[in-house]
Amino acid sequence: MASSQASVFSVRRLCWILLALCALSSISFLFWSHCSVPRHAGDEELGNQQNQPFNLLSYSYAWNQLSFSHKPPGKFLKIAVCVKKWPHQSHAGGLERHALTLHLALARRGHEIHIFTASYPSFPKYPLSNLHFHLSKPTAAGYLDQALVWKQLQAVNATGRSFDVVHTESVGLMHTRARSLDNLAVSWHGIAYETIHSDIIQELTRSPEEPQSQALTQRVMKVVDEVRFFPRYAHHVATSNHAGDILKRIYMIPEDRVHIILNGVDEEVFKPDPAKLLDFKQKFGIPESNSLILGIAGRLVRDKGHPLMFEALKQIFMEDNAFKEGVLVIVAGDGPWGAKYRTLGSNVLALGPLDQDQVARFYNAIDLFVNPTLRAQGLDHTLLEAMLSGKPLVATRLASITGTVMVSNEMGYTFSPTLASLKDVLRRIWKDGKGIVEMKGRVARERGLKLFTASKMAAAYEKLFLCISTMSKGDRDDDDDCRYQPYLN
Ligand SMILES: *[C@@H]1O[C@H](CO)[C@@H](O)[C@H](O)[C@H]1NC(C)=O
Repeated sequence: MASSQASVFSVRRLCWILLALCALSSISFLFWSHCSVPRHAGDEELGNQQNQPFNLLSYSYAWNQLSFSHKPPGKFLKIAVCVKKWPHQSHAGGLERHALTLHLALARRGHEIHIFTASYPSFPKYPLSNLHFHLSKPTAAGYLDQALVWKQLQAVNATGRSFDVVHTESVGLMHTRARSLDNLAVSWHGIAYETIHSDIIQELTRSPEEPQSQALTQRVMKVVDEVRFFPRYAHHVATSNHAGDILKRIYMIPEDRVHIILNGVDEEVFKPDPAKLLDFKQKFGIPESNSLILGIAGRLVRDKGHPLMFEALKQIFMEDNAFKEGVLVIVAGDGPWGAKYRTLGSNVLALGPLDQDQVARFYNAIDLFVNPTLRAQGLDHTLLEAMLSGKPLVATRLASITGTVMVSNEMGYTFSPTLASLKDVLRRIWKDGKGIVEMKGRVARERGLKLFTASKMAAAYEKLFLCISTMSKGDRDDDDDCRYQPYLN
């Protein structure tokens, strides 16, 4: 009797233990499936849509995080591109770099690309027979000559097949012409509403002697103007989550005409590479040491925040000897602040402008990339390059940066554009030290590979162009072109 009671008891106990184990394992399953992959604000929530096709035009997150097939496209498109200037070299503004990276990638994938842009002496040549340039003399104000470009575009449109899609980088093709085309997409690299933040920062940092700027009041009227003419473009590509939100909410463009495709940079050029690191250090005589190396690159001008960075370094060097002894600052780029940085002492190396290959080496040689920009427009390419090179970022709290690039402190540090905030962050980095900095660099690279590669960007645009082209022709049979079919590697 006693023994059978005991055995019933132990069976029951066993059941409880099993139940507890089941509960634990399902909790840990939930934990791993939901918590192990860091999720960030602004990133998509695919949820139960994950394995089902859906219409891309109503997708409200960055297309970069979807996986499209790497196979050659099912059909080749004839694409017109209007861009104010085609870059001569890798030194170029964001808009031009975007045009270059994207359309070279699409040409390499076999599409027929016609670029309408401004002429200049010794225009670059490319060994791609399906990449065509149609040059024109820019207007005195530096815009494309709209009447001339339109004529060229019509002529190419009437030769052979007509264009499947027209892509304009910002107002390369102005709304006066663009309004007649429903197979058109415009990519915005800075819109007036974003710029208001820069205007506010400039006004706050104005010295008492300088007169108050009219920029702020004029900017608001510019926004109103843009709200009026933007809807004349058929499809809009926002290059950051923030710009996407503004286009839908402030500019009131219907959601299915606003698509977020973030900028990408060449992942074959920008990547961790120990050989490049050594090479760079030898070439520029950078001593082997345990110093924490801060890197600064780009145009060394005021609105990129260099007066602020200069002053912050100057003050900390004076206040904190350990920081001064333990930190090396490498400055790459051209501009009036280059010479100023040199005056800070021997632990600041100003190297002058570097070509793209050297810039890739530069990222390898540094521990952190500092970009104190005050320009709140577009999506800064240098941040993406540093991320793909596996370096954490130190950047200003601007919406395109905190909402898209560095959505948490796991991949770097952000500061408000004030001396106190920047100094605080520099001191924190110094306190954190190399171990934490390296960890953040690994997270930065992971995020870079997930979102900011040129191939992800090109795949997303290719899909958008296929979709726009099919829709504008009313090809019902082909509505797969606007559908997302998860691509399983
Ligand atoms: C090109 O030609 C087609 C067919 O005539 C026309 O529908 C289309 O609007 C033209 N595109 C441009 C950009 O002029």
